[in-house]
Amino acid sequence: MFSEDLLKGKTIIITGGGTGLGKSMATRFASLGARIGIVSRSASNLEPTANQLRESGHIAEFETCDVRDPGQISTAIDRLTERLGPINVLVNNAAGNFISRTEDLSSRAFDSVLGIVLHGTVYFSLELGKRWIASSTRGVMLNIVTTYAWTGSGYVVPSAVSKAGVLALTRSLAVEWGRKGIRSVAIAPGMFPTKGAWDRLVPSGSVEETLKSRNPLNRLGEHSELSNLAAFLVSDGASYINGEVVTIDGGEWLMGAGQFNALSGMPDQFWEALREGRRKPQDKDNS
Ligand code: HXC
Ligand code: NAP
Repeated sequence: MFSEDLLKGKTIIITGGGTGLGKSMATRFASLGARIGIVSRSASNLEPTANQLRESGHIAEFETCDVRDPGQISTAIDRLTERLGPINVLVNNAAGNFISRTEDLSSRAFDSVLGIVLHGTVYFSLELGKRWIASSTRGVMLNIVTTYAWTGSGYVVPSAVSKAGVLALTRSLAVEWGRKGIRSVAIAPGMFPTKGAWDRLVPSGSVEETLKSRNPLNRLGEHSELSNLAAFLVSDGASYINGEVVTIDGGEWLMGAGQFNALSGMPDQFWEALREGRRKPQDKDNS
C-alpha cells in the first residue's frame, strides 16, 4: 500500500506504544522506516515491544513515563531525543477506561481516566509543542480518540468526557499551531480487539457478538487497517490534512445514529408489501 521508505527520516513517539493499538502502530511505522520511541508506565509492556522491533532490524527505544506527570514527560522526551534525534511526530495513544454506572464512580475514579486521557494528552502535546515552536520544527500530532468523543456514551463517561476534550484540543491546535507548521489530526477507531480494551470493556463473548451485529460490516476492526491509516496521516502525503478526525469503524456510529437504520432487520416480505401498497392500481393491472 505504501513505499517502504514512507516514514524514513521521521522519529515518532507513541504513548502507550508497548501494547495494543500503540504497539501495532509502532510496528507499522518502523516497517516504513521511522525511528520509534515508545513510552508508558510499565517497562514490562515497553521492553518486549522495543526488543521485537530491534530484532526485526528497526531503531526503537523506550522510556517509562506516566503521562499524568509533566516532569516525567519532559525527562522522557529529553532521553529519547538524545538517543533517537529530534522528534517529528507524537501519537497520543495512551488511555485508561472501564465500564461502570456513573453513579457508582468516585471522584478518584473519574480523575484516573481524565488524568491519563485528557491531562496526559494535553501535557505531552504542550511539552513537545513548545519545543517544536522554539526549534521551528514542522511536527505532527496524531490523537487517538473514539467515535463517542462527539456522540457521548453512557457507562464510559470519564472516557467520553476526556476524548471530547482531546478532540477539541486537536481542532484548536490545528488552527493555532498550524500557522507554526504543526499539524494536528485524530483517528476515531471503532472496536479493535486489544487485551487492554477487551479486559475492561468486553466482559463476555456475547458482548462481542452484539458489538459485531451493531456494525454494518458485521465485524471488528483489524489492527493493520488502523495502523495503515495512522501511517498515512503522519506521513508527508497527508501534509494538507489538518484538524481532521478520521473515523475508522466500519460505519458503526452512523448505524446507531440514522433513525431508520433499524429497518435493516425487516424481512423481504415487509419491503415487498410496502412496494405493492405504494404502486397505483393501473401499475398493478399492467404487471
Ligand atoms: C469503577 C474503578 C474501576 C472500575 C478503577 N476504579 N477501576 N471504578 N470501575 N472498573 C477506581 C478505583 O476504585 C479508584 O477509586 C480509582 O478508580 C483509581 O484506581 P487505580 O486502580 O488506583 O487507578 P490507576 O492505577 O491509575 O489505573 C487507571 C485505570 C486502569 C484506568 C483504572 O484501568 C488502567 O491502568 N488502565 C490503562 C489501560 C486501559 O484502560 N486500556 C483500555 C483503553 S480502551 P477509589 O475511589 O476507590 O480510590 C479504550 C477504548 C475506548 O479507551 C473505546 C472503545 C470503543
Ligand atoms: P491498551 O493496550 O490498554 O493501551 C493503553 C496504553 O496506555 C497501554 O499501553 C498503557 O501502558 C498506556 N497507559 C495507560 N496509562 C498510562 C499512563 N498514565 N501513562 C503512560 N501510559 C499509560 O488499549 P488499546 O485498545 O490499544 O487503546 C489504545 C488507544 O486506542 C486508546 O487511546 C484507546 O482509547 C483507543 N481506542 C481503542 C479502541 C479499541 O477498540 N481497542 C477503540 C477506540 C479507541 P502502561 O500500562 O504500561 O502504562
